[in-house]
Amino acid sequence: MSSQEDKVKTLSETPADCQAGQGSGGGPFIVLFFIIGFVASLVVGWVIFPKVLYSQKSQPFDFNHRLHLEQVDDGCQSCHFFREDGSFAGVPKLEQCIDCHEDVQGESEDEAVFVEQYVAKEREVPWLIYSRQPNCVFFPHAAHIFGAKLECRTCHGDTGTSESLKPYEENRITGYSRDIWGRNIAGFKSNTWDRMKMDDCAQCHETAGIHDSSVQTGRDACFVCHK
Ligand code: HEC
Ligand code: HEC
Ligand code: HEC
Ligand code: HEC
Ligand code: HEC
Repeated sequence: MSSQEDKVKTLSETPADCQAGQGSGGGPFIVLFFIIGFVASLVVGWVIFPKVLYSQKSQPFDFNHRLHLEQVDDGCQSCHFFREDGSFAGVPKLEQCIDCHEDVQGESEDEAVFVEQYVAKEREVPWLIYSRQPNCVFFPHAAHIFGAKLECRTCHGDTGTSESLKPYEENRITGYSRDIWGRNIAGFKSNTWDRMKMDDCAQCHETAGIHDSSVQTGRDACFVCHK
């Protein structure tokens, strides 16, 4: 009993000892140096580090989703359809564009590049895929579109209705796209599509209440998403 009382006493005395040293001048300078150091580290952490960490690549040419949605009859499915076997076709192939772009039909420089460099030479466009996961990850669109009835926007943001393509940003260390690794360097997430790491997949699986084995902490869970 008494030894415990002693402990409490010594603990409560410590702060008083510390305070004794205060008020000896130099306070404002210390605060100033602290602020300068703090601001400098914020600039390094929030502005310089992300610039250095990500390299930017541009797409082969620009593509306007909004313009094309007015040209097709079947919305997103016109270009991003499911094959007979349920697999997702992903980014469209040249043959889906050729009916309309056999020849240049407008004034756009992007269309000219597309027709001259790719259509005329029968070369597929090497699109950079923002949401591309590493090869070890298995992601079925069908389960999410037909099973979970999710909207494209939940995971992809506004890409599907955009007028131009953003640059592709590649993490120099991991090689991942910034859409996977996260927009915000500190890991904050304000939209569902800001980041798509393992935890983000699992977090939705957990809240959606689908079977335990699709959450990476669940038993035997790994091979749901890793094949
Ligand atoms: C006329 C064909 C066409 C239509 C219609 C179309 N897309 Fe696309 N989509 C493309 C092409 C080409 C690309 C590759 C260039 C790019 O990244 O935008 C693409 C890429 C995308 C990507 C980027 C995938 C990634 O991770 O890089 C998303 C997301 C997407 N489309 C969603 C949509 C949605 C949602 C709709 C419907 C609202 C839609 N698209 C309608 C042709 C189309
Ligand atoms: C249903 C017809 C149709 C289809 C299919 C189609 N396009 Fe287009 N595309 C158009 C029209 C119309 C324009 C506008 C031409 C103009 O007046 O500039 C256009 C413009 C473009 C442009 C220039 C404007 C821009 O988007 O930056 C590019 C590049 C382009 N298309 C690429 C593609 C690609 C790649 C595909 C295949 C995934 C495709 N298009 C499929 C009709 C189509
Ligand atoms: C916004 C919510 C959400 C996100 C994000 C999400 N999923 Fe899912 N996922 C679901 C739902 C809901 C189902 C169940 C669909 C059903 O009922 O068929 C599912 C099903 C699956 C399945 C099939 C499971 C099975 O046992 O058949 C796999 C595999 C999967 N998701 C992988 C992933 C991966 C990998 C990611 C991240 C890149 C991811 N999911 C992100 C909601 C999500
Ligand atoms: C639950 C999240 C989720 C939803 C909902 C979703 N996607 Fe995706 N999408 C992904 C992921 C993850 C990838 C990367 C898959 C990979 O790398 O294997 C991807 C890849 C893509 C790609 C590129 C595929 C390629 O490699 O060619 C396109 C295009 C695309 N999605 C379009 C769509 C469209 C259109 C819809 C709505 C009909 C949609 N997605 C709904 C998560 C989602
Ligand atoms: C809900 C889907 C999901 C489940 C379940 C899951 N993973 Fe993942 N895993 C991913 C995704 C998506 C990535 C790629 C993004 C990342 O690195 O976070 C990944 C990446 C990884 C990586 C890094 C691979 C690389 O190339 O960087 C390892 C290692 C890994 N997972 C191990 C596991 C193990 C072990 C389990 C089981 C305990 C598991 N995962 C369960 C979705 C999942």
